[in-house]
Order: sequence, then structure tokens, then C-alpha cells
Amino acid sequence: MRLQALREKTAGCRRCAHLASFRSQVVFGVGNPHARLLFAGEAPGAEEDRLGEPFVGPAGKLLTRMIQAMGLEREDVYIANILKCRPDLPPGTPGNRRPTPEEMETCLPYLREQIGIIQPEVIVALGATALEGLTGLRKGISTLRGSFLDFQGIPLLPTFHPSYLLHNPSLKLKRQVWEDLLLVMERLPLPISDRQRGFFLTKAQP
Ligand code: URA
Repeated sequence: MRLQALREKTAGCRRCAHLASFRSQVVFGVGNPHARLLFAGEAPGAEEDRLGEPFVGPAGKLLTRMIQAMGLEREDVYIANILKCRPDLPPGTPGNRRPTPEEMETCLPYLREQIGIIQPEVIVALGATALEGLTGLRKGISTLRGSFLDFQGIPLLPTFHPSYLLHNPSLKLKRQVWEDLLLVMERLPLPISDRQRGFFLTKAQP
């Protein structure tokens, strides 16, 4: 109920007038209000803005596969972004842009409140924007991924954003992200099979 009340409050948000007039709708978040695991991303893209749900475009499809590889479904976890509105672009400009520090500062209270209501046991910060928004750290994902940080007493694991994986499709990178997710599974804990442990490892030469 508290999450629903917050959703209704954000739906009419006009704190960033430029974003409020650009967006189709506010993309609040999706998933289990009692989730033990919360994924935090950056901001809605075009598909998310159109459908009103985070991570439903190409990066979202990859995130869904990552969640399923952990033995979970999207409905088991909670997914939300640092920014609830799609960052505006000049008409006809393709792609996305990163949220500005001011936009992040303005919108972050919503994500903090979502986390406070859901009280997940683990947070995964997807990419540098989510990491910076939640921890203030600007050191870079490559340096900080692979170990837990702290968000108000909740273990937070930074890892690469799925869109980074889509643009840099290497087995090494996939394995790094998968090792991060294995750490999350151990922490919760979730059962881990030998098959899961071996995902994205290069086959031993005969
Ligand atoms: N990338 C994000 O960070 N969030 C989304 O919702 C979609 C793509």
C-alpha cells in the first residue's frame, strides 16, 4: 500500500519541468514489493517510456535473462531506476542520454523511499549512474564491481549495466557480471548448481 501511494505520488511529479513535458509517463518500478533482491538501473529509455515499465527494451531483455539464469523471474525481484522519467533529447535525436547530477539529486528521494519500503536484502547497482546515485562513488564500475558496498545497511553490489554488455559482447565481460550475480546468490542465499557455477567459463581444452 505504501508503495502504491508512492507510485501515485510520483505519477504526477513535475519537479523537473523539462522531463515532465518530454515523458509519456513516469516509469516507477516493477516487481515484488517484498523482493529480497532489488536491481537499480539508470533511467527509462524509449521502450520503457512507452510501456511504463523499467527494463523492457533490449537491455531489459538481457536483464530478464540474467535474472532467469539466477533461477528467478522478474516477478520475484524489484526493478527500478535512479531517474523515473526518460531524459529528454532534442526532437529527432536517437538514443539516450545520461541523467544530469541535478536530475539525479531531484529524483533520488523516490528510489530511496522505494528501497526503504521494500527493504531488500541485496541491491544490485547496474552501471555507473546507479552506483553513483546510491553511493556517491564515481570510481567506475570496473574498479568497484566484484565486492559488496553498503547502502544504508543493505549490501550493494555494483556490476556492469546490461547495455554495456550488449555493446561489448565478450565472454570475459559476461563471466564478470555472472560472477557478481553468483556473489549475490551466495549472499541471499539462493541454490547454485554446478552448471550455474560454470556459466560463461571457457571450455577446458582436451
Ligand atoms: N536502462 C536503464 O537503466 N533502465 C531502464 O529502465 C532501461 C534501460
